[in-house]
Amino acid sequence: MRIMVTGGAGFIGSALVRYLIEDTPHLVLNFDKLTYAGSLSTVACVADNIRHRFVHGDICDANAVRAAMQDFSPNVVVHLAAETHVDRSIDGPEAFVRTNVVGTLNLLSEACRYWSMLDADARAAFRLHHVSTDEVFGSLGNTGLFSEQTSYDPRSPYSASKAGADHLVSAWGHTFGLPVLITNCSNNYGPYHFPEKLIPLMIVRALAGEDLPVYGAGNRVRDWLYVEDHVRALCAVLERGQVGRTYNVGGGNEKRNIDVVQMVCALLDELRPRSDGRSYALQIRHVIDRPRHDLRYAIDAGRIGAELCWAPRESFETGLRKTVRWYLQNERWWQSIIADREADRRRGLAA
Ligand SMILES: NC(=O)c1ccc[n+]([C@@H]2O[C@H](COP(=O)([O-])OP(=O)(O)OC[C@H]3O[C@@H](n4cnc5c(N)ncnc54)[C@H](O)[C@@H]3O)[C@@H](O)[C@H]2O)c1
Repeated sequence: MRIMVTGGAGFIGSALVRYLIEDTPHLVLNFDKLTYAGSLSTVACVADNIRHRFVHGDICDANAVRAAMQDFSPNVVVHLAAETHVDRSIDGPEAFVRTNVVGTLNLLSEACRYWSMLDADARAAFRLHHVSTDEVFGSLGNTGLFSEQTSYDPRSPYSASKAGADHLVSAWGHTFGLPVLITNCSNNYGPYHFPEKLIPLMIVRALAGEDLPVYGAGNRVRDWLYVEDHVRALCAVLERGQVGRTYNVGGGNEKRNIDVVQMVCALLDELRPRSDGRSYALQIRHVIDRPRHDLRYAIDAGRIGAELCWAPRESFETGLRKTVRWYLQNERWWQSIIADREADRRRGLAA
């Protein structure tokens, strides 16, 4: 297949690109604006492969998207390009609406134009796969799971912009017949995660001897999925998913934030002990919470399991160990990113 990946220099997009190049025969067009969250260093290991092509482009730029589609002739577009950090969406929602809503609209219009000019067989085989989040469903209480039937109830500017994008994708499927697929996934973690997100932020701050800021009591619950398991789910959906269908993807690993941070500290205590022999957990500090921070997200991934035989391979324990090891072995990658991009500055207090 010829697969156009938007956002392929970001955390999940780059994991998908590396997987497609290293483990499949597919050709990849990596289309990315290289915002603060994107970096070609995430795909450096496949950059010289003739099946990988990079285009520096913005999904809001119709001409750039059109030219990329015409040049590359994709059978599949996997859409991951987005603004993704909830705290930043509180400080500056406009960029989230621009990229996540207007950019998705633009991508859909251009995909529709491109698709309508294909011959009948190519039109039938074409897929546009939109990658979204479980945050569109809002917040759960102490029980229950998000299923594909759960009503949308986004609470943050980030999740509202992703919900808008999901609805547009669905509308383009219904109204124009564009063969679309949507996945809504829980929190990912793993290598090349930008160190403003919880797990990498805790690792890099712990190693620097800094405070480990836990929002509020740390009792918010998220369902964690190792990024390579997400990538395998995306491939299962784009290869075998039913057109027009939505699939929830989750790891079945519900954890409170404070427990995640404690686990990171315990792994660092084992793999890179502090010079004074005491635990990194002593660096944990409870700080003012994110405004109206959603209490709990948890995914029922039964549909993708039953219909596409997908299941995560990593438990949270094995995936987290791999992740901590990766950050210990790749300090140069994250140190340059922190220095350049103020990754660990506190944002999103809505003061
Ligand atoms: N990280 C998670 O836990 C998670 C969970 C579920 C769903 N998702 C979704 O998966 C997708 C990827 O998430 P991520 O964590 O890899 O994000 P990320 O922030 O690490 O990467 C986003 C990428 O998109 C690129 N980009 C941003 N705006 C662009 C634009 N206008 N045009 C072209 N490229 C642009 C950035 O340069 C970057 O490379 C997003 O759509 C996100 O909503 C993420």
